[in-house]
Amino acid sequence: MFETLSREADDPLLALTPLFRADPNPAKVDLGVGVYRDEFGKTPVFRAVKQAEARLLETQETKAYVGPEGDHAFIEAFWTFVAGEGRHAAGVQTVGGTGALRLAAELLRRSGTSRIFLGTPTWSNHSAIFEAAGLSVVTYPLFDATSQRLLAGEMISVLVDKAEPGDAVLLHASCHNPTGAVMDDATWAAVAEVILEKGLVPVIDSAYQGFGTGIESDAAPLRRVLDRVPEAIVAASASKSFGLYRERTGAVYATSASPETRDKLKSHLVTIGRGAYSMPPDHGAAVVRTILTDPELRTDWRTELDDARKRITAMRAILAKGLSRLSPALAAIATQQGMFSLLPIDETRIVELRHRRGIYMPLSGRINIAGLNSSQAPGVIEALCAQAALG
Ligand code: LMR
Repeated sequence: MFETLSREADDPLLALTPLFRADPNPAKVDLGVGVYRDEFGKTPVFRAVKQAEARLLETQETKAYVGPEGDHAFIEAFWTFVAGEGRHAAGVQTVGGTGALRLAAELLRRSGTSRIFLGTPTWSNHSAIFEAAGLSVVTYPLFDATSQRLLAGEMISVLVDKAEPGDAVLLHASCHNPTGAVMDDATWAAVAEVILEKGLVPVIDSAYQGFGTGIESDAAPLRRVLDRVPEAIVAASASKSFGLYRERTGAVYATSASPETRDKLKSHLVTIGRGAYSMPPDHGAAVVRTILTDPELRTDWRTELDDARKRITAMRAILAKGLSRLSPALAAIATQQGMFSLLPIDETRIVELRHRRGIYMPLSGRINIAGLNSSQAPGVIEALCAQAALG
């Protein structure tokens, strides 16, 4: 039976890491997977995480199961981090942000939703997650890499023309992956109105809070949508904001004004998780809970996150200046937000840059600006300009 299986393609992003590791070029640069790196190319464990881990090591008395929903205090504190004070939701801890999206997809299925609208481009794993849960994906153009323009008008008109009541629409809370494009307040408001008028369900993917302009400002559009629409799902990841990538820490939240409905929602989220992996892993959530509920650790974590954001912003300015010589539209890289921008570069040139210069990026042309440091930036700019790689 197994012999009849055909080989699956490697994940376009994750397959880059082993290729990069195997490259002996000492000047190689990894602009692939979305992981923050400092000026020395390291992805450090946050100081506050180390301290929280030390506390857990000392104080944790058992490894007995926490329970199917995960750590209640984490679920609450993490919701306040994402949604601010005073908003109600049914939440459960998940296996990273991807686990949150998958539970969201299954919940939508159970609620009668059969389609989700995704902008093009979006995170390369989004359609696989929703399709695996049996939803069909409807795409609409969202960004043009050559002009670096967000196609806000196109997005709204596709939703107005094609979406039906009960359809879901995926939104990136901040730091759009893969484009870094910023949706202005007017567009957020217009999207919320279409959602409301057409009876759609927003699924808000929040994976980079703190990497745009700040912890609170990055969450502001999401909070305004929650205040405007009666039902929403938020899939939140702690991977980047707390540097906990491999600990797979996240949560999914579904909103409703009715406490009875929230109780039902929670029971479904728990049941879906139970059928997939029984209970979420504890460690990352315990770390986040420890940091968010301790004023000292919290302040230190925020400082470190602020510093990471400032470093990315500085790299953005350098890249934008260097690359805008080649194409004025690329000056937009300076004002885009988060780890990523999307270069208008074809696959052949991306492979050439990999082989000739040791510069690694996925074939989509997405670059992880957080993977770049100031000593590498001039070389990367020169390589892109020398090959006239951008067109
Ligand atoms: C990314 O987009 O690079 C990250 O979210 C890592 C991943 O899982 O793809």
